[in-house]
Amino acid sequence: MAEPLADITSHDTYIDGVPRETFRYLREHDPVHWTEESDGGRGFWSLTKYDDVLLASRTTDLFSSRLGIRLEDMDPEETEARRTMMEMDAPEHTRLRRLVSRPFAPKSVAAYEDAVREIVVQILDSMQGEREFNFVQRIARELPMRMLGRLLGLPDDDLNWLVQRGDALIGNSDPEFTDYVVDQVDTSAYRLLPFRSPVSIELFEYAAQALEERRITPTHDILNALLEPTVDGESLDELALKNFFTLMVAAGNDTTRYTMTGGLLALIERPDIFASIPSMTLEQRKSLTDEMLRWTTVTMHFRRTLTQDLELRGQNLKAGDKVVLWYASANFDEDHFEHADAFLPERSPNDHVAFGLHSPHLCLGAHLARLEIRVLFEELATRWSSVDLAGPIERLRSNFISGIKTLPVSVEWR
Ligand code: HEM
Repeated sequence: MAEPLADITSHDTYIDGVPRETFRYLREHDPVHWTEESDGGRGFWSLTKYDDVLLASRTTDLFSSRLGIRLEDMDPEETEARRTMMEMDAPEHTRLRRLVSRPFAPKSVAAYEDAVREIVVQILDSMQGEREFNFVQRIARELPMRMLGRLLGLPDDDLNWLVQRGDALIGNSDPEFTDYVVDQVDTSAYRLLPFRSPVSIELFEYAAQALEERRITPTHDILNALLEPTVDGESLDELALKNFFTLMVAAGNDTTRYTMTGGLLALIERPDIFASIPSMTLEQRKSLTDEMLRWTTVTMHFRRTLTQDLELRGQNLKAGDKVVLWYASANFDEDHFEHADAFLPERSPNDHVAFGLHSPHLCLGAHLARLEIRVLFEELATRWSSVDLAGPIERLRSNFISGIKTLPVSVEWR
């Protein structure tokens, strides 16, 4: 490799896109790679091969989520205060997941298709004929935001405010989204809050009020459903409810938005595929959606902590070591995906790890995200005869989320 390896921990690295050549080099020469951390962290192992990421995803008694799922270390007090279902292992996780999963199950999500299409049609009707715009701001940000609003039963007028807060949490390393940039500003005063950000307080307060309103006057939305005990008489306590609300606002918006954006960029480069969407079968459109998910791999990694010593590909990992599962590398592993560097909408099987895989933590919103992406592209392709890039793209400053913040496009409407 001619270039030196990119610094995979630096948020700045990703402003130019995922360092694909670095990950390719690691997969070939150093697949279980040790990184020292310069900011006082104790270092971490990177798993870059598909098979190893899968092993860590499914072997949860060895690769624990309890001590944190983000790169940065937290002290036990922080971990405890910021814990969501993502930072739990069985049986605690299993119980919570059972309590919240029904509205996200395939059957429930299938019933949302009309609502998703209605929102897409509203957005596109309101823009009919507009030739040049930022796709992210006008379309990709709007759809997941309005759909989440519908599901949670929140007023449209609150959604922009909420999504700004979600962006500030997930984009906590990008100065465009937050004043509390984790690696640039001293955020120690907020260390007990989700994402080390005071914005979490605002979301907690909002959630508390929305829940209180539903206790007084029940509604027909997911938030209300979460208040009701299950058939076994179990229910979520107030902190778990507020944490889950925050998790949905943070996890469900930008990930879907950036997948749609990266997906459109892929199709701008392959206009033949975009033009063929209206004649594709449902299975083919679903398959296109999954290739977009693999191609963009918006959530680039999550982390686990080893509970026992382990020898892996000749490396000696120790109990307590941090291990990072690089989905962004696994999804391009040539030993698993044929022509991994090509965008192949017909790829089958497409067992990508963009949502995690064979993991009890497999993305809860996976079916919803897939539905939104598919319906959006179905509607775009029937309304636009062509779409081109109309200016430079801008990427999120983050080693965690791979996202395009600005995608200027020019379109021809039919
Ligand atoms: C394209 C969009 C999305 C991507 C790429 C994505 C990615 C992921 C990934 C990689 C995980 C962790 C999997 C693991 O640890 O094995 C996850 C978990 C999760 N996601 Fe998503 N996600 C997306 C959309 C959504 C949406 C729309 C929602 C909800 C409305 C959502 C809610 C969650 C929740 C609650 C978890 C934690 C599940 C658990 O710990 O059991 N996600 N997601």
